[in-house]
Amino acid sequence: MISKRTPIFLTFLLFALALAACGGGAGEPSYDPDTVALGKTKFEQTCSACHGMDAKGLPNLGKDLTISEFVQSNSDADLLAMVKTGRPSSHELNTTGIDMPPKGGNPALSDDDISAIIAYLRSIHE
Ligand code: HEC
Repeated sequence: MISKRTPIFLTFLLFALALAACGGGAGEPSYDPDTVALGKTKFEQTCSACHGMDAKGLPNLGKDLTISEFVQSNSDADLLAMVKTGRPSSHELNTTGIDMPPKGGNPALSDDDISAIIAYLRSIHE
Protein backbone atom coordinates (compact mmCIF):
# COMPACT_ATOMS: atom_id res chain seq x y z
CA MET A 1 0.00 0.00 0.00
CA ILE A 2 2.51 2.55 1.13
CA SER A 3 5.05 1.43 -1.44
CA LYS A 4 2.50 2.12 -4.20
CA ARG A 5 1.57 5.57 -2.94
CA THR A 6 4.99 6.86 -2.07
CA PRO A 7 6.18 7.70 -5.58
CA ILE A 8 3.06 9.78 -6.31
CA PHE A 9 3.34 11.56 -3.01
CA LEU A 10 7.01 12.29 -3.65
CA THR A 11 6.23 13.60 -7.12
CA PHE A 12 3.74 16.07 -5.68
CA LEU A 13 6.14 17.09 -2.96
CA LEU A 14 8.94 17.76 -5.44
CA PHE A 15 6.55 19.67 -7.68
CA ALA A 16 5.42 21.84 -4.77
CA LEU A 17 9.02 22.49 -3.76
CA ALA A 18 9.92 23.46 -7.33
CA LEU A 19 6.99 25.87 -7.50
CA ALA A 20 7.94 27.43 -4.17
CA ALA A 21 11.51 27.90 -5.37
CA CYS A 22 10.39 29.59 -8.60
CA GLY A 23 8.05 31.95 -6.77
CA GLY A 24 10.91 33.72 -5.07
CA GLY A 25 13.45 33.92 -7.84
CA ALA A 26 12.81 33.12 -11.45
CA GLY A 27 9.52 35.00 -11.93
CA GLU A 28 8.89 38.74 -12.20
CA PRO A 29 10.27 40.59 -9.20
CA SER A 30 7.55 42.24 -7.17
CA TYR A 31 7.84 45.81 -6.00
CA ASP A 32 6.37 47.64 -3.05
CA PRO A 33 3.30 49.69 -4.15
CA ASP A 34 4.64 52.77 -2.34
CA THR A 35 7.88 52.50 -4.31
CA VAL A 36 5.95 52.23 -7.57
CA ALA A 37 3.86 55.29 -6.60
CA LEU A 38 7.00 57.30 -5.78
CA GLY A 39 8.53 56.20 -9.07
CA LYS A 40 5.44 57.34 -10.98
CA THR A 41 5.69 60.81 -9.41
CA LYS A 42 9.42 61.05 -10.13
CA PHE A 43 8.90 59.80 -13.68
CA GLU A 44 6.22 62.40 -14.34
CA GLN A 45 8.44 65.17 -12.93
CA THR A 46 11.53 64.38 -15.03
CA CYS A 47 11.24 61.61 -17.61
CA SER A 48 7.81 62.52 -19.00
CA ALA A 49 9.34 65.58 -20.69
CA CYS A 50 10.71 63.25 -23.36
CA HIS A 51 9.07 59.90 -22.74
CA GLY A 52 5.54 61.28 -22.24
CA MET A 53 3.22 61.15 -19.21
CA ASP A 54 2.22 57.60 -20.21
CA ALA A 55 5.85 56.60 -20.97
CA LYS A 56 4.82 55.82 -24.54
CA GLY A 57 7.38 58.23 -25.91
CA LEU A 58 7.21 61.63 -27.60
CA PRO A 59 8.15 62.13 -31.27
CA ASN A 60 11.82 63.12 -31.69
CA LEU A 61 12.32 63.29 -27.91
CA GLY A 62 12.20 59.92 -26.15
CA LYS A 63 11.33 56.32 -26.86
CA ASP A 64 8.32 54.27 -25.80
CA LEU A 65 9.40 52.63 -22.55
CA THR A 66 6.27 50.48 -22.11
CA ILE A 67 7.28 48.18 -24.97
CA SER A 68 11.04 48.69 -24.70
CA GLU A 69 13.04 45.54 -25.32
CA PHE A 70 15.91 47.22 -23.49
CA VAL A 71 13.83 47.73 -20.33
CA GLN A 72 12.49 44.19 -20.61
CA SER A 73 15.84 42.47 -21.00
CA ASN A 74 18.04 44.44 -18.59
CA SER A 75 18.33 44.02 -14.82
CA ASP A 76 17.36 46.79 -12.42
CA ALA A 77 21.07 47.43 -11.79
CA ASP A 78 21.80 47.79 -15.51
CA LEU A 79 18.85 50.13 -16.01
CA LEU A 80 19.97 52.23 -13.04
CA ALA A 81 23.43 52.52 -14.59
CA MET A 82 22.01 53.45 -18.00
CA VAL A 83 19.67 56.13 -16.61
CA LYS A 84 22.51 57.63 -14.53
CA THR A 85 24.86 57.95 -17.51
CA GLY A 86 22.22 58.58 -20.17
CA ARG A 87 22.84 57.58 -23.78
CA PRO A 88 24.31 60.26 -26.05
CA SER A 89 23.64 60.13 -29.76
CA SER A 90 27.27 59.04 -30.20
CA HIS A 91 26.66 55.90 -28.07
CA GLU A 92 26.78 52.60 -29.95
CA LEU A 93 23.39 51.54 -28.59
CA ASN A 94 21.69 54.81 -29.55
CA THR A 95 18.91 54.08 -32.02
CA THR A 96 17.32 57.51 -32.53
CA GLY A 97 20.26 59.88 -32.98
CA ILE A 98 18.82 61.89 -30.07
CA ASP A 99 20.63 62.36 -26.72
CA MET A 100 19.27 60.89 -23.53
CA PRO A 101 20.92 63.15 -20.91
CA PRO A 102 22.35 61.69 -17.66
CA LYS A 103 19.49 61.20 -15.14
CA GLY A 104 17.18 62.65 -17.77
CA GLY A 105 18.83 66.03 -17.12
CA ASN A 106 17.79 66.11 -13.45
CA PRO A 107 20.94 65.79 -11.26
CA ALA A 108 18.78 65.94 -8.11
CA LEU A 109 17.52 62.39 -8.73
CA SER A 110 19.06 59.97 -6.21
CA ASP A 111 19.76 56.28 -6.87
CA ASP A 112 16.69 55.49 -4.76
CA ASP A 113 14.56 57.83 -6.88
CA ILE A 114 15.76 56.15 -10.07
CA SER A 115 15.26 52.68 -8.59
CA ALA A 116 11.68 53.69 -7.77
CA ILE A 117 11.24 54.91 -11.37
CA ILE A 118 12.49 51.53 -12.59
CA ALA A 119 9.95 49.78 -10.35
CA TYR A 120 7.26 52.00 -11.90
CA LEU A 121 8.47 51.19 -15.43
CA ARG A 122 8.31 47.46 -14.60
CA SER A 123 4.73 47.92 -13.41
CA ILE A 124 3.58 49.52 -16.68
CA HIS A 125 5.65 47.45 -19.12
CA GLU A 126 3.42 45.54 -21.52
C1 HEC B 1 15.74 65.12 -22.77
C2 HEC B 1 14.95 63.97 -23.16
C3 HEC B 1 14.93 62.77 -22.23
C4 HEC B 1 14.64 62.73 -20.89
C5 HEC B 1 14.25 63.88 -19.98
C6 HEC B 1 14.71 61.33 -20.50
N1 HEC B 1 15.05 60.56 -21.57
FE1 HEC B 1 15.24 58.54 -21.60
N2 HEC B 1 15.70 58.59 -23.55
C7 HEC B 1 15.75 59.73 -24.34
C8 HEC B 1 16.10 59.36 -25.70
C9 HEC B 1 16.26 60.29 -26.88
C10 HEC B 1 16.28 57.97 -25.68
C11 HEC B 1 16.65 57.08 -26.86
C12 HEC B 1 18.14 56.98 -27.01
C13 HEC B 1 18.45 56.07 -28.17
O1 HEC B 1 18.22 56.46 -29.32
O2 HEC B 1 18.90 54.95 -27.93
C14 HEC B 1 16.03 57.52 -24.32
C15 HEC B 1 16.12 56.22 -23.92
C16 HEC B 1 15.81 55.75 -22.66
C17 HEC B 1 15.88 54.38 -22.26
C18 HEC B 1 16.30 53.21 -23.15
C19 HEC B 1 15.10 52.76 -23.95
C20 HEC B 1 15.44 51.76 -25.02
O3 HEC B 1 14.53 51.01 -25.42
O4 HEC B 1 16.58 51.74 -25.51
C21 HEC B 1 15.48 54.32 -20.97
C22 HEC B 1 15.37 53.10 -20.08
C23 HEC B 1 15.20 55.67 -20.56
N3 HEC B 1 15.41 56.52 -21.60
C24 HEC B 1 14.78 56.04 -19.30
C25 HEC B 1 14.59 57.35 -18.89
C26 HEC B 1 14.26 57.72 -17.55
C27 HEC B 1 14.01 56.73 -16.41
C28 HEC B 1 14.19 59.08 -17.51
C29 HEC B 1 13.92 59.95 -16.32
C30 HEC B 1 14.86 59.85 -15.22
C31 HEC B 1 14.48 59.55 -18.85
N4 HEC B 1 14.73 58.47 -19.65
C32 HEC B 1 14.49 60.88 -19.22
C33 HEC B 1 15.49 61.02 -23.94
C34 HEC B 1 15.17 61.41 -22.65
